[in-house]
Amino acid sequence: MIIEPRMRGFICLTAHPEGCAQNVKNQIEYVKSKGHIDGAKKVLVIGASTGFGLASRITSAFGSDAGTIGVFFEKPPSEGKTATPGWYNSAAFETEAHKAGLYAKSINGDAFSNEVKQQTIDLIKADLGQIDMVIYSLASPVRMHPVTGVLHRSVLKPIGQTFSNKTVDFHTGLVSQVTIEPANQEDIDNTVVVMGGEDWKMWIDALKNAGVLANGATTIAYSYIGPEVTEAVYRKGTIGRAKDDLEATAFKITDDLKSLNGKAYVSVNKALVTQASSAIPVIPLYISLLYKIMKAEGIHEGCIEQIQRLFEQRLYSGKEVPTDEKGRIRIDDWEMREDIQEKIKVLWAKATSENLTEIGDLAGYKQDFLNLFGFGLNNVDYKAESNELVTISSIK
Ligand code: NAD
Ligand code: NA
Repeated sequence: MIIEPRMRGFICLTAHPEGCAQNVKNQIEYVKSKGHIDGAKKVLVIGASTGFGLASRITSAFGSDAGTIGVFFEKPPSEGKTATPGWYNSAAFETEAHKAGLYAKSINGDAFSNEVKQQTIDLIKADLGQIDMVIYSLASPVRMHPVTGVLHRSVLKPIGQTFSNKTVDFHTGLVSQVTIEPANQEDIDNTVVVMGGEDWKMWIDALKNAGVLANGATTIAYSYIGPEVTEAVYRKGTIGRAKDDLEATAFKITDDLKSLNGKAYVSVNKALVTQASSAIPVIPLYISLLYKIMKAEGIHEGCIEQIQRLFEQRLYSGKEVPTDEKGRIRIDDWEMREDIQEKIKVLWAKATSENLTEIGDLAGYKQDFLNLFGFGLNNVDYKAESNELVTISSIK
């Protein structure tokens, strides 16, 4: 069928198989162009199908010739109905990995469940024996707790006071005022259960107890800090509490991994257009200003540039891994540069519906958003018939 984008709110209901494959190929080419990284060789990526997780899988495979197992939660296609983009991305990734002679298998299911953890352990035992790197890159609005059976929902709210600031509807370019009432304790607790560190630790405990973590195994999860303008709703809001918890969990996991000489890291990454971030109020306006400034300075990066730099220059540089005063790796260093943030403040105060296309990179935002779903890429014939019924070779 001919597949076109069908937008509804923060998501696109369709995805383009050939476009998603092109996206993956572009990322592979980028990583290959940057040369070999002396990184991990057997890698598990949890949240491997889109965004930072996909970029991590691609960087491991095509930067360090790693065998990878990818875990994700995506919707497969059915007759006349496209899959979610992460499905097509993963199909394309496996095809390219196999062509390059690299081991790559995937598991599609709920990473929060005991079943998927066990399935992953069984696969590692059968195929790889042990793994030496676990990348934890889940972004989910819900989590079914595997012990209590309770379904927790995360919320994006400020804590302690009502938040009011500018936001943009990136489809229409309309800048308006958004007001968000503060979270209650239950909101905070739920968000920490979904996006905090508990599940990350459960994964590492399960893998360690099963004996599938190699000596010296490391693990990394991704966090965000961001600017003053988003602080009340992001870092000091409910999601920030979850990130505090995630970051604290890295120290607990490092303790657990001492007997294996292993270590847990958190990397603070740059703000980027992903399915997860486009749903957060205020962030799209910030990102459109940030893109404009970083592109003008020649320091703009997407997920693949961020993760390639993280691996090459932080994790596997051969030197001690540099961290900040809280033990975190900072690959948001260019975003957080003082001159960049000063410029954002000035533009933020000025931004209106009338001037945003001028002072911000709304076009770049929209382009990246379309690209997430495989649309708007070069070298893809969007008028041609697509085969939506793509299979992932390792998933029966
Ligand atoms: P994303 O939406 O692109 O990717 C989320 C991944 O998680 C996908 O592979 C999806 O299939 C998987 N997933 C979701 N629920 C799942 C479940 N129940 N079981 C198995 N897989 C599941 O998100 P992203 O933006 O790449 O976010 C990844 C991490 O990076 C998050 O911790 C996020 O907070 C962090 N981060 C994001 C940004 C940003 O601006 N996007 C910046 C810094 C840090
Ligand atoms: Na991801």
